[in-house]
Amino acid sequence: MQMDNERILITGSAGFIGSHVADRVMGLGARVIGVDNFDPYYDVDRKRANHAGLQRAYGDRFVSHEMDITDEAALAGVMDGQGLTGVIHLAAKAGVRPSIADPGGYALANVVGTQRVLSAASACGCGRVVCASSSSVYGNNEKTPFAEIDSVEHPISPYAATKRSCELIGETHHHLTGMPVAMLRFFTVFGPRQRPDLAISLFLGKVARGETINKFGDGTTSRDYTYIDDIVTGVLRAYERIPAHGYRIWNLGGDHPITLNGLIEAIEGVVGKDAVINEMGMQAGDVDRTWADLSRSGVELGYAPTTSIEDGIARQYAWMRSSGLIEQRATES
Ligand SMILES: NC(=O)c1ccc[n+]([C@@H]2O[C@H](COP(=O)([O-])OP(=O)(O)OC[C@H]3O[C@@H](n4cnc5c(N)ncnc54)[C@H](O)[C@@H]3O)[C@@H](O)[C@H]2O)c1
Repeated sequence: MQMDNERILITGSAGFIGSHVADRVMGLGARVIGVDNFDPYYDVDRKRANHAGLQRAYGDRFVSHEMDITDEAALAGVMDGQGLTGVIHLAAKAGVRPSIADPGGYALANVVGTQRVLSAASACGCGRVVCASSSSVYGNNEKTPFAEIDSVEHPISPYAATKRSCELIGETHHHLTGMPVAMLRFFTVFGPRQRPDLAISLFLGKVARGETINKFGDGTTSRDYTYIDDIVTGVLRAYERIPAHGYRIWNLGGDHPITLNGLIEAIEGVVGKDAVINEMGMQAGDVDRTWADLSRSGVELGYAPTTSIEDGIARQYAWMRSSGLIEQRATES
């Protein structure tokens, strides 16, 4: 896939997934305008380092703006007249548990922010928008694996509710404007540059340092972890193919759910140390299980994840060690 003629605005470009997507599309020849407000949810130095890395690698093919996606005037200022071909919208307040304490902040950044990005995309005349949704929209559905046609009427956290709202807003926007809009339900993403609040990142650091990890629930909850390179491939395929679909939701998962107990064992194997475990109750807002049905994304996007949980964790651990992150304590959410 060549992207020499693409000029893409990426929101959340300083974050975990955004920085990887920006890297891949510029590697394929695209020019990128990156937008991020450096939300202090986790260490902003990491986000600045992500932008600096993109700047070093791609020079003037990468232009970045520190701004909030809810700021309509700022969005118009960076999008109008730029000859944008598409938008990849990844900016969001991303944690599940913190959304319970700040539902208004999540609604503003995620729901209002997404509407403003869609409106600005149409106003500037670009050709398509690909947005991050989340597996959390499936709530505690009993039926697995989760398919795009399953009911998503019962989100169990404000974060999940904002993501489902964004899907509806995207569908309405497509209906009214004809803008091709893709909504991608990511299933817990991991790999180098993973957000420090997520389990794999937290556990790798704590097990390596010999610190106690908090295990929420009895360890039988499960997640369909998805390696970052597979997610990025899915994002690019969706970007390429959404004009043929108009509006479409696609699952992007790993297809190999693992229990929390299994994850801890895998981490112990990679680090070479036993975990010291503090048993805790279930956390409000956490779902019991996730597992992506990849039939639709397999057929329509040719999406097929290739990285196993063990290989992916080993790569994330190698990156954390080489970045000096094992020594740094992260805040648990
Ligand atoms: N990481 C996962 O496992 C996962 C799973 C499902 C969905 N998602 C979604 O994927 C997207 C990227 O997630 P991530 O893990 O890379 O998170 P991240 O926090 O690393 O990246 C999100 C970026 O958006 C920026 N941002 C937040 N609010 C903003 C605003 N109002 N204006 C401008 N920028 C803003 C943040 O500063 C951050 O750099 C998010 O939409 C998230 O909800 C992630």
